[in-house]
Amino acid sequence: MKQTLQNKRLLLGITGGIAAYKSPEIVRRLRDAGAEVRVVMTRGAMEFITPLTLQAVSSNRVHSDLLDADAEAAMGHIELARWADAIVVAPVTADALARFAQGRADDLLSTLLRASDAPVLLAPAMNQAMWRDAATQENSQILSQRGYRSIGPADGVQACGDVGAGRMSEPLAIVAAVSDLFEKQTLTGHHVVITAGPTRERIDPVRYLSNFSTGKMGFALAEAAAEAGAKVTLIAGPVNLSTPDRVERIDVISADQMLAVVQQFAATASIFIAAAAVADFRPSAPTDQKIKKTSGIETMQLDLVKNPDILKSVAESEQSLFCVGFAAETENLLAHARAKLARKGLNMIVVNDVSRSDIGFAADDNEVVVITPKDAIKLEKANKRHLARRLIQLIAEQVSPADNSDSG
Ligand code: C5P
Repeated sequence: MKQTLQNKRLLLGITGGIAAYKSPEIVRRLRDAGAEVRVVMTRGAMEFITPLTLQAVSSNRVHSDLLDADAEAAMGHIELARWADAIVVAPVTADALARFAQGRADDLLSTLLRASDAPVLLAPAMNQAMWRDAATQENSQILSQRGYRSIGPADGVQACGDVGAGRMSEPLAIVAAVSDLFEKQTLTGHHVVITAGPTRERIDPVRYLSNFSTGKMGFALAEAAAEAGAKVTLIAGPVNLSTPDRVERIDVISADQMLAVVQQFAATASIFIAAAAVADFRPSAPTDQKIKKTSGIETMQLDLVKNPDILKSVAESEQSLFCVGFAAETENLLAHARAKLARKGLNMIVVNDVSRSDIGFAADDNEVVVITPKDAIKLEKANKRHLARRLIQLIAEQVSPADNSDSG
């Protein structure tokens, strides 16, 4: 079985067509390949096959209602949308295609498609004349332009007796197409260490120096790397974000602490992504007592010393580690970033234009240029989760496949 489905979280949507009788077989095959499967059924699907069957084969409760308070309490639709590494809908009826193409969100499955940015695979199944119909073809094209993948329908004899294109593809072919969704971005067997967030440098027991980093980009990268099958260690400065699933998180405060933890993991890791905004300087002599205001004194001096450059020192000491840095620049983006790539001995650097307020630092969106010793690739403006997936994919393309036997 294809390794790419190992530990993947797949949402299988079932809509109301006769081919739904084959959906339990798809669940079984996906699970055989190592995936965890949750099933979402439309009302129509439940006319053809019972939720109990799908619950039994998936070993998970089946989801069907958008407005069911109990179901939402267990795993709400947004949570479910975030849970999924990919969404597969099999079978997709002509009506479902039309509803997806229109962007409806009036039942659970259509809402999940709106709320998730995971890759989607559709397996249409319908009468051959309905498939050939101009509106159906147009809907199918709209969805493919939006980035949805599809498989089938296959040719052959149909349940209604017609012969032609309209049969749902066979479960094994669907499973192969699902694993193709992940083919390019696999990091199975890799151990990725990621730093994220700001650092805090102590002045006295109640004060510190820091910066405005929120850690969003580093956390999104940790999530995307885990989704791509890597073992992930996330070393986070003080941030207000929850730990992504399947990610080991270690909290640190200062640059010195961050360096010590990174060194501990870098020796056995294969990829290091430095997304933290490490404070460049720290107070040279933090005091044990609170610094008092003295009347009559209107200014004060704070002596600072340089912090260690975590990325540079790790890139120097771990030659086989694939090192990725970030560069926040305001001018001459590419030239400055190329110089930084060379100075720090990196394999890749991701450049942000921080002179713009709509992207970077605390924003939800980012637009970056990825520079390697050979290439400069612009990634268009997108939300940080989406961008993180693209970055992880680019990293996966650059690193050699890992020996899976030593993955922890
Ligand atoms: O030199 P500059 O701060 O612009 O470099 C940014 C890159 O270096 C980021 O990837 C950041 O995480 C990393 N860095 C580091 N330790 C520092 C300063 C920056 O790891 N002390």
